Amino acid sequence: MAKAPAFTCTNCGAAHTKWAGQCDVCGAWNTLVEERPLTAGPAARALAAGKAIPLTDLATVAEAPPRTEAGVAELDRVLGGGLVPASAVLVGGDPGIGKSTLLLQAAARFARGGLKVLYVSGEESAAQIQMRAARLGLTESPVALAAETGLRDILTTLEAETPDLVIIDSIQTMWLDSVEAAPGSVSQVRAAAHALTSFAKRKGIAVIMVGHVTKEGQIAGPRVVEHMVDTVLYFEGERGHQFRILRSHKNRFGPADEIGVFEMTGRGLVEVKNPSALFLSERGEPAPGSVVFAGIEGSRPVLCEFQALVAPSPHAQARRSVVGWDGGRLAMILAVLESRCGLPFAGLDVYLNVAGGLKISDPGADLAVAAALISAREDAALPKECVILGEISLSGALRPVAQTENRLKEAAKLGFTTAITPQAKKRSAAAGLTLRQMADLPGFVAETFGTQAAGGRTEQGRRSQ
Ligand SMILES: Nc1ncnc2c1ncn2[C@@H]1O[C@H](COP(=O)(O)OP(=O)(O)O)[C@@H](O)[C@H]1O
Ligand SMILES: [Mg+2]
Ligand SMILES: [Zn+2]
Repeated sequence: MAKAPAFTCTNCGAAHTKWAGQCDVCGAWNTLVEERPLTAGPAARALAAGKAIPLTDLATVAEAPPRTEAGVAELDRVLGGGLVPASAVLVGGDPGIGKSTLLLQAAARFARGGLKVLYVSGEESAAQIQMRAARLGLTESPVALAAETGLRDILTTLEAETPDLVIIDSIQTMWLDSVEAAPGSVSQVRAAAHALTSFAKRKGIAVIMVGHVTKEGQIAGPRVVEHMVDTVLYFEGERGHQFRILRSHKNRFGPADEIGVFEMTGRGLVEVKNPSALFLSERGEPAPGSVVFAGIEGSRPVLCEFQALVAPSPHAQARRSVVGWDGGRLAMILAVLESRCGLPFAGLDVYLNVAGGLKISDPGADLAVAAALISAREDAALPKECVILGEISLSGALRPVAQTENRLKEAAKLGFTTAITPQAKKRSAAAGLTLRQMADLPGFVAETFGTQAAGGRTEQGRRSQ
């Protein structure tokens, strides 16, 4: 067989037969690296006859896995109700976001709850981790600690110690001497993750691996191992903001898209029991461009603020800048506002962001975004005690969104008095909340900003101000 050169994307792990500047699977740039095929690996050996595998039938009812709770509600919920024995969990996130802090705290909690926990760091010395433990007040917790990167020795230690949980920080620093590739390369990361998870499953050990998200593609990102593990969590947050969100992207033992909210403090991560209050805490008096959206993240309602700024553009091509929301979705909303409501944004720079650095993927945010854009364009503030939710279709019609009742309840709980929602057959309500239901976007614009507003102020009018 002719040896085809093999290239692998360090971002998503896709194989390519030839080099390219951009990965055509995930779209990342400069992430393709040449990988040596695993000539000595098991796959290359001739297939010998195996033994017959035991078969079962569909009627066999497996018991629900017993779970161990960390006693940290924000973490346990994201895991789907606690840690499942012998499961493999990947915790991805940007460097410095707080993954080691989170996992050291989790390790201490699980250890105090009776699990035998081993924390293996390939990034920091034992002394550095002990210093962190001292700062976090965890020195009394019975967590066994090791600073090691050689997976052969780690597996031997696991075999001898048989802990209930092993934490590997990070998978990119681990290496197997049987694989001829540098630590952090796609081959090493994949082989190390596979060796660890299959060993741990065989021995009944739960394994939590840290994976750094890398932008440069120098080392393999966590997506390379996503398919090997049961649960994929991402730890998100913005530098300069204190809160962090742990989000489940995949979970074989629970719902995906569940979130846990934490605040980073000098003494480590602290649970945030009421995220809506936190996300709205910086909100001042009503200002043009500011709109409160009643969202849902996973199973929990989360209120947050969209902020828009619309200004005459000095550039030939007006800017569209969006942080915390989908840029493509913003373009769609702008197009619908122009063609269905007569509100053009040509020649205007548009900036949209979610206050506090939260990332929103809920399609129910469309109407809140549209409201923020119109409010900024028309320089007209919405009432302070009003929340908005609803999906917008290309025709300009408003569609009801999932779990409206839960969203409204959360809004009422936080003292909001009015909610603007799409019309729905089933009327959701929450005590103390006045509901204003709208059929379509033009109707919303006319009612909320006055009919004059719909196309009333022209681009030239704005510019001559
Ligand atoms: N002495 C300290 N006091 C307060 N916060 C600290 C201290 N040291 C580190 N941190 C916080 O912890 C963060 C690093 O967290 P860490 O868990 O090491 O991240 P990761 O493992 O994701 O790279 C820093 O960005 C900082 O915000
Ligand atoms: Mg770390
Ligand atoms: Zn890719």
